[in-house]
Amino acid sequence: MVDFDPVTKAVVPAAGLGTRFLPATKATPKEMLPIVDKPAIQYVVEEAASAGLLDVLMVTGKNKRSIEDHFDRAFELEEVLEAKGDEHRLSQVREPASLATLHYVRQGEPKGLGHAVLCAKQHVGGHPFACLLGDDLIDQRDHLLRRMVEVRDTFGGSVIALMEVPKEQVSLYGVATIEATSEADVVRVTDLVEKPPANEAPSNWAIIGRYVIDPAIFEVLENTPPGRGGEIQLTDALRTLASRGSEEGGPVHGVLFRGRRYDTGDKLDYLRTVVKFAAGREDLAPEFVPWLREFLDEIS
Ligand code: G1P
Repeated sequence: MVDFDPVTKAVVPAAGLGTRFLPATKATPKEMLPIVDKPAIQYVVEEAASAGLLDVLMVTGKNKRSIEDHFDRAFELEEVLEAKGDEHRLSQVREPASLATLHYVRQGEPKGLGHAVLCAKQHVGGHPFACLLGDDLIDQRDHLLRRMVEVRDTFGGSVIALMEVPKEQVSLYGVATIEATSEADVVRVTDLVEKPPANEAPSNWAIIGRYVIDPAIFEVLENTPPGRGGEIQLTDALRTLASRGSEEGGPVHGVLFRGRRYDTGDKLDYLRTVVKFAAGREDLAPEFVPWLREFLDEIS
């Protein structure tokens, strides 16, 4: 068996303008919007860390300083909590800085997800890396990223996470053409298309925001012209890798995910996610769930 270069780094693109959440995101990055009481981006860093990826590069842009502050120590706040003897909150405040080693690079211009990934080139170097998009949260009980790293260790190349979505939603995602492999949850990806109209989609297997990417992607991204929406698309670069053999950065495999994914990308999905997370919290559910039931009766 070939020993493939291990995956140790994660890249988290966080340079989006967050226009769907204005005015909240005028001065606050959308990645910092709380899911109950924790910013969405913290769940993503926790997920990377729990898959063993302790080197996390954030690709940020304008207005993102609060992300850096969140993953840093906050001595003043810590002193106050310490003086009060509030150990619980103290550990909550310290936790983000202890999850992983965070690095930052800025994406000068908003030229798309592919361009954001290209900004990671220097930090990542010639090694495979994971890429996690903050709009998709994966339940911590479902070890998707760990499985994807395992698949990369077996097959080399790149690995994307795929989830079946209803036909009318395919135009929101990158969509894959797939072939079965000997492993039930792994497919070979033979083609990809970014956000196709429903009637042109090759399947209803959509890319959800988790990738393990071969470093050959950087050279491909440098030569990928703007695609859908005039932006440099990661999907287009992965499509090129999918057509290549293992000598040149291919193949691309997909892990079929049937677990729990929470979309926080638009307002309705965000609301659903907050309610689901609150209903799953031991400290909140006993009061929140009965209230929610009553409230639903009241408004129906
Ligand atoms: C991005 C990708 C798309 C993928 C999606 C997953 O799109 O371009 O291929 O399916 O993330 O959330 P975005 O949602 O950023 O427009």
